[in-house]
Amino acid sequence: MTTHNIMLLPGDGIGPEIMAQVRRVMAWVEGAYGVIFNVDEGLIGGCAYDAEGVPLSDETLAKAKASDAIVMGCVGGPKWDGKTDYDKRPEAGLLRLRKDLDLFANLRPAMCFDALADASSLKRDLVAGLDILFVRELAGGVYFGEPRGIEELPGGGRIGINTQRYTDAEIIRISRVAFDMARKRGGRVHSAEKANVMEAGLLWREEVTKLHAEEYSDVKLEHILADNCAMQLVKAPKQFDVILTDNLFGDILSDAAAMLTGSLGMLPSASLGDGGPGLYEPVHGSAPDIAGQGIANPIAAILSFAMALRYSLNMGDAADKVEAAVSEALAQGLRTGDLMSEGMTEVNTEGMGDGILKALG
Ligand code: IPM
Ligand code: MG
Repeated sequence: MTTHNIMLLPGDGIGPEIMAQVRRVMAWVEGAYGVIFNVDEGLIGGCAYDAEGVPLSDETLAKAKASDAIVMGCVGGPKWDGKTDYDKRPEAGLLRLRKDLDLFANLRPAMCFDALADASSLKRDLVAGLDILFVRELAGGVYFGEPRGIEELPGGGRIGINTQRYTDAEIIRISRVAFDMARKRGGRVHSAEKANVMEAGLLWREEVTKLHAEEYSDVKLEHILADNCAMQLVKAPKQFDVILTDNLFGDILSDAAAMLTGSLGMLPSASLGDGGPGLYEPVHGSAPDIAGQGIANPIAAILSFAMALRYSLNMGDAADKVEAAVSEALAQGLRTGDLMSEGMTEVNTEGMGDGILKALG
């Protein structure tokens, strides 16, 4: 029997609740496909800080590195919001994981399930059939650029500093991912930056243009300013196929796109490097306002696990089945609170898990 080593990192807030439903789906896949998931569980984020003094311990990081896939929940919460030391914040655990494993390619598919087209904040005809893939650079840019910090100014007052920086090599490797993905999809890439005000954006545009001309001229490339991209996403989102963008713009634009699909609770993500395990996590945060109530939407986490099946475990068929089961549960009218609308059946986290498992059969 094939054994896959999975590092499970539930994290903070609703993380453990949604991860419990992922576990159930994992058990189904084991039974249906005759594989074994050898699951190791670790701490990340605020809970890791409380228990181990750091948001991601060396030991957990080493275990994650040695696994076949890392399946994560979410990090952060008001308990740790006051922490001004960025190395100790819950988010630092996640950033360390991304950076240390050099997970530079963050894939964020924003798809609108037909059953949810009415749950979007936009009109049904604008979002029905929506299928965008964000390719977000994840290991560079302003998230990691030096210098950074808060410093005292000589004449009094303080200054906060962060640095946006991208090398040509970093731009080229993420652009390759976007072009390769586009070839398997709609064949179109929009590259979003702010070349009109930032040198890092200008270099981005130049390198994308060059790579495209040299190796990917079969793909249709358009450059778009990131602010215009935000506007176009809410005006006519279906014009996009693949959106290639940097770490910060990708963070912002993918949240906006998430709402088009009905709820932030729907969006999965995969973070991939050059070989080694991928990291799979929902796009949403730890939702402290509803944590512990058992009402969070587990779909983004379950779809993230489906991406793990596809991209790290070579089980594309199982991934298709899980995605179809999510679609089926939604078609049956099951809705967690975040998706609820008239005439639908409101269920809690476990109820949504029940519906998905039932659809899996
Ligand atoms: C995301 C999150 C993270 C980010 C936070 C939790 C550090 O917002 O994955 O989109 O900013 O990248
Ligand atoms: Mg974000």
